[in-house]
Amino acid sequence: MAMRIQKTWMVWGLFLLSVSSAFAQHVVLGRVDSFRALPSGIEIQSGEGLVCIRSLRDDVLRITASPSSTLPDEGSWAVLPASRDSRFGVTPFSDSSFVGFDTPLLHVRVRRDPLEIEIEDAQGHTLLANSQPMRYFPDDSKGDAGFRVWMHMPAAEHFFGLGEQAGPLDRRGNAYTLWNTDAYRWQGGTNPLYDSIPFFLTDTAGVSYGLYLDNTWRSEFDFGKALRSQFSFGAEGGPLDYYFLYGPAPKKVVEDYAWLTGTAPLPPRWALGFQQSRYSYGTEQELRGVADRLRSGRIPSDVLYMDIAYQVKNRPFTVDATKFPGFPGFVEELKRKHFHVVLITDLHIAYLPNDDYAPFNSGEAGNHFLHNPDGSLYVGPVWPGPSVFPDFTQQATRRWWGTLYKTFYGEGVSGFWNDMNEPSVFNSTTKTIPLDVVGQIEGPGFQTRTVTQREIHNIMGMLNSRGTDEGLLRLKPNQRPFVLTRATFAGGQRYAATWTGDNSSSWSHLRLSTPMLESLGLCGFYMAGDDIGGYAGSPSMDLLTKWIEVGSFNPIERDHTEIGSNPQEPWVGGPEQEAIRRHFIDQRYRLLPYFYTTAEEASRTGIPIMRPLFLEFPDATPDRSPLDLTAGNEFLFGPDLLVAPPPYPDEVQSYAVTFPPVPWYDYWTGRLVTKAAPAPRSATGAQGRAAGESEAPLKPAPVQTVTVQPTLATLPVYVRGGSLVPMQPLVQSTGQTPQGPLELRVYPGPDCRGSLYQDDGTTFDYRHGDYLRVDYSCQSGPDRLTLNIGAQEGTYPAWWKSIDIAVYNWPSAQAHVRLNGQVLSGSTYDAANHVLHVRIPQSTASRIVVVTTGGAAG
Ligand code: GLC
Repeated sequence: MAMRIQKTWMVWGLFLLSVSSAFAQHVVLGRVDSFRALPSGIEIQSGEGLVCIRSLRDDVLRITASPSSTLPDEGSWAVLPASRDSRFGVTPFSDSSFVGFDTPLLHVRVRRDPLEIEIEDAQGHTLLANSQPMRYFPDDSKGDAGFRVWMHMPAAEHFFGLGEQAGPLDRRGNAYTLWNTDAYRWQGGTNPLYDSIPFFLTDTAGVSYGLYLDNTWRSEFDFGKALRSQFSFGAEGGPLDYYFLYGPAPKKVVEDYAWLTGTAPLPPRWALGFQQSRYSYGTEQELRGVADRLRSGRIPSDVLYMDIAYQVKNRPFTVDATKFPGFPGFVEELKRKHFHVVLITDLHIAYLPNDDYAPFNSGEAGNHFLHNPDGSLYVGPVWPGPSVFPDFTQQATRRWWGTLYKTFYGEGVSGFWNDMNEPSVFNSTTKTIPLDVVGQIEGPGFQTRTVTQREIHNIMGMLNSRGTDEGLLRLKPNQRPFVLTRATFAGGQRYAATWTGDNSSSWSHLRLSTPMLESLGLCGFYMAGDDIGGYAGSPSMDLLTKWIEVGSFNPIERDHTEIGSNPQEPWVGGPEQEAIRRHFIDQRYRLLPYFYTTAEEASRTGIPIMRPLFLEFPDATPDRSPLDLTAGNEFLFGPDLLVAPPPYPDEVQSYAVTFPPVPWYDYWTGRLVTKAAPAPRSATGAQGRAAGESEAPLKPAPVQTVTVQPTLATLPVYVRGGSLVPMQPLVQSTGQTPQGPLELRVYPGPDCRGSLYQDDGTTFDYRHGDYLRVDYSCQSGPDRLTLNIGAQEGTYPAWWKSIDIAVYNWPSAQAHVRLNGQVLSGSTYDAANHVLHVRIPQSTASRIVVVTTGGAAG
């Protein structure tokens, strides 16, 4: 089987060398023989084949093709039905050289001979263009036709996305295979990894579009590796079916992708807290010790994981009562200590035909496992020994899987961890289920049919987590589920968070992690993390400290390591290291109002928590190339915090932090660091450019840098001038009500705004209005600041009775403050850092706070 795969790829490789005539069987959709205008697009006949381009919106296209007279039109695992079915009416055109259509934003032209698709924006700039006709390559053993599509690749085009890939953020110059793989100890450049997300977005001088290939088979994306000025993509089988998502702002493309494949729902708030794990805390006593040490050391934390050792002989959905004798009581005890328990439940089920192991017996009775081609059960070795694998493409199987959580969920376990779901199989060269193992596709949107792993391998992990998520929702409809999955596919963000698998305890892995998490965020997985401290091996104490520092600004912060490694909890290494780590975890908790607000934005829009710089500042450089290409491993945590770890975190030399061209403040001191001439945020920033709005004129903006000297105890973090950052008093877990005022940090600058979102953190009541949302804005001059606090939206009550407003870069101790026109006394001034502190009472009504240095505030 492996031979056959290699052969298919060799065939493609040879085509890349333009040896086309040697393969008589291939089909080239080479020219337009006839065409038919459709209300929303065009259908083209090319030889025996068909090409269809449809407009779903004025800025989203779907392109499908077939070597025969039937276009692919089956359901999609990733694309939302409502988005897939939407249509936009277009204006057709044709002339002697081209056929095509227009939308108000896009000009779609298909050259008649050779058949090449070109997509232009309304100004006539080419966005995407075939560099040669698309081709099909018949599979020699199964008759499934693989295909490939080639595009021109301008010199200034950069590529982002494709989920987790261990390498540079920009994919240009590299090629990637998407085939979910258990990649223990992966290294920089290891490909494929655990997930397959065939979505990328481009950036060419600040103009962006996205491309999503809706195909679950083994696929490949080549961004100029094989051919220097072309990029290409293809799959080994399945439909040629891709979507074009027009920006032009990159943020808008990310939102389009969320429109197409959905957003990750708002997680329970506790999932944003610090999480402690290891393979494996082996006994109740050991885990209680971890919980108590976190609390006595005042290390804020929310989640404890139980890896496979809690089970009887690694069998999912069992508990070894010799090691965890009072399981439900123990979960209760941890809950009283404000810890949420997340249990691992791998997707394999122990093959125990003559036992009373309910998951096997009920699964077999319901015919829920995959089969060999001869009809026998497929059995492969994993942690429990011989195991069987649920056939997750059947709706009935996903439902059955969901019922397995009834006991644990009823006992108060808060979340579940779906691991090994590439699926991983031991003792096999391919590390997974053989390709000819069969399952059934059954459920809404799909014809019921038998399929092999070739088609469904890449979606097993996603559908495993979908079964878990949907099962938990059926069991507790008003509790937000938390599911962590290792393998997934496009659209999988709707069901689970993810992490980057079995990384290593090395400085280079800390470095690799930032672009991986950013890429996952661009692909919808705004809830993503890595194994803090590294999974394989043991970190030096300095590495663990630095990793916790950076990880405190990652969406998920989970300390996890492998069996046999040294202890890796935040207190390991002595009180000095512990104090530094605690300090950063404290900040994460102090920032919860801002962090949770950012998560809520992500759940609505798809804009991730962890953002590459170009997403917020696409025009930051004079030539509008993405700033990230030269800015080391800097990233944004939410819209306003810029985190700048050393580009090589183990090196002691000073390094330059590069800033997008707005003012920046030092997060730690509050001092103004840069006063860059502001690029107007409304044109390109937080909201993205409105569809159809023309590009902002090229405005050379000097990129500013500051040199910093790395030390173990520090991590440079900056705040965007023109932002309002809500913070809270320190708590030891997200479930604790903060005691004291809400802190509202005001960082004056252009286009100054911010917001705050709160709710109960666990239920869906926010969907019925029980939330709190407040928008803030500010205007500032040299001697004056006006802060607008909007009226509260929603019914959720605030925990605070007053708000401490901190105004940064305030020039002097002179401060006259008025609240809604009334003089307010009692402000204090921190002369060392130029911060003015003002306290106002909480209210749900809108307020205006005016501060002046003179006496005329009003
Ligand atoms: C896999 C997971 C790892 C886990 C281990 C044991 O290797 O990636 O996180 O600890 O299995 O369950």
